Amino acid sequence: MPNLQGAAITWLGHATVLIQTAKGTTILIDPFIEHNPKFPKGYKLPDKIDLLLLTHGHMDHIADAVPVAKKHGPAVFGMVELIGWLTSKGIPQDKATGMNIGGSHKHNDVTFTLTEARHSSGISDGDKTVYGGEPAGFVIAIDNGPVLYHAGDTGVFSDMQIIRELHHPTIAMLPIGDHYTMGPKAGALAAMFIGAKTVLPIHWGTFPALTGTPDALEKELSGTNVEVIHTDPGQTLR
Ligand code: NI
Ligand code: MN
Repeated sequence: MPNLQGAAITWLGHATVLIQTAKGTTILIDPFIEHNPKFPKGYKLPDKIDLLLLTHGHMDHIADAVPVAKKHGPAVFGMVELIGWLTSKGIPQDKATGMNIGGSHKHNDVTFTLTEARHSSGISDGDKTVYGGEPAGFVIAIDNGPVLYHAGDTGVFSDMQIIRELHHPTIAMLPIGDHYTMGPKAGALAAMFIGAKTVLPIHWGTFPALTGTPDALEKELSGTNVEVIHTDPGQTLR
């Protein structure tokens, strides 16, 4: 593990990740809680969540966005169309801010940037699918702390090299489960493009279709200096 300089990262199963900075800013990404089979049993989110970041409109990423926003009062950020839909579903308008690819926002000691992702982002709303804008990932740069990258759901794409050039992430949270996102082989190439020395695998093992594993990713990365983190949902990395 690299030195997180006082920050803490807790993977909560699937793509749900909680980050706490040394200064106490709390960030939750892609809350999939109630129906997430890998959400750690009995785990309680902190009372105060400062930022809720949403990568795209699929239900395994936003299912609990409205209840979390109502209960924990975070400022909510994501693609502009997705945020528009979520405010129509109960996220308070004064707490929600739409962004778009390439844009950054600073909140306390955290600067985050919406990055490209190769995926889709239609929102299931009753019997309709609503346009949710483009899917995204987030680079999260903490003042006097590490630069983190949550890729959202994506396949590998060569413009991940632009993310490396611009942001130099130290830890990359990459989906590796395959089927709906890249699997371990493409995940290894993504790690090369991103240039992060540490990968925290996400979006794997949740459902039977997600067959990619951290062990398989590690195998694909053998001979490189990239470290793959093995952790259980609910364990905090410091
Ligand atoms: Ni998705
Ligand atoms: Mn997903």
